[in-house]
Amino acid sequence: MDSTRIEDSRAVAVPTGKNGPEMKGSRDVLREAKSSRNVFRWLLCALLLLAFALLQHFGVSAGTLMQVGYLVVVVGALLTGPAGGAVAALTAAAVVGPLPGANSHPLIYLAVALAAGLAMDSFRRRLREQEQAQLATLVKLAQDAEPGDEARAHCERVAHNAWELGAAMGLRGKELEDLYLAGLLHDIGKVSVPRDILQKPDDLTLEEFLVMRRHARLGENLLGTTKRFGNVAKGIGAHHERWDGSGYPAGLKGTQIPLAGRILAVVDVFEALTSDRPYRMAYKLDDAVAKLREGAGTQFEPQLVERYLELVERGRIRMDGNHTWAGQE
Ligand SMILES: [Fe+2]
Ligand SMILES: [Fe+2]
Repeated sequence: MDSTRIEDSRAVAVPTGKNGPEMKGSRDVLREAKSSRNVFRWLLCALLLLAFALLQHFGVSAGTLMQVGYLVVVVGALLTGPAGGAVAALTAAAVVGPLPGANSHPLIYLAVALAAGLAMDSFRRRLREQEQAQLATLVKLAQDAEPGDEARAHCERVAHNAWELGAAMGLRGKELEDLYLAGLLHDIGKVSVPRDILQKPDDLTLEEFLVMRRHARLGENLLGTTKRFGNVAKGIGAHHERWDGSGYPAGLKGTQIPLAGRILAVVDVFEALTSDRPYRMAYKLDDAVAKLREGAGTQFEPQLVERYLELVERGRIRMDGNHTWAGQE
């Protein structure tokens, strides 16, 4: 699978400028999440070294200190890679100090750190490549689920806007990354819905609606097959649940609905309202805002609606290019 397709999601993004902030691509999201994890690992490594340095003050013998030093060096290297491992090795050697008959221990520490760090780096790189390949396959499947560039742009705007609302609600790192991916892939289950139903210009019959609503559960099942995308799957499975319990597929109510599902519900509906659809033209911005407020407490979690509308006011939310921003009308 061509992994550059992930980055392509930027290529169809609505142009930046008057319509709001630049849209994040999947790769930006993964990079941001990765760098926050790296900071966390370096912090852990620093704490470990600090704890090791304190051992000296508790009367631990030099020989024991040297043995524990190996453990500290290996853990430091596994956490931060060869560079962090080297820092851990030199720090550990300085803490242990010169040992009678064992003056080569700093070099052995360094060798152990480099070996463990390089092995861990290669393992992580392989995992990342696998993850990218899986993601590229899923993005392609989601893009093919509904025909047309507009459906694709809808998913990208939902992903971007969900990221904004998630960040405003205090989500960080992997939670935010998973939310973004759930937005990007939220309608992947439509791959099982016949195109004549997806593109039908009139109201759906009950039978057609029952076929259409299967997409939430199918999307959850598709993503749920891998551990990495387990949380993404939960968000996708819940994007048509309603705050009052009248949604589907499980009829979950209030905070029983995963936060990602509650966020996607707000973002997805607002994005759909402000876009042209085969069966209707886009709502005016004021009408879309009113519609969202109307659904607060029944369809949507009220505080999410308020927070989202604040983001709309601040120009953080991307919409179909036909719309001007609140405050500019
Ligand atoms: Fe959906
Ligand atoms: Fe959608």
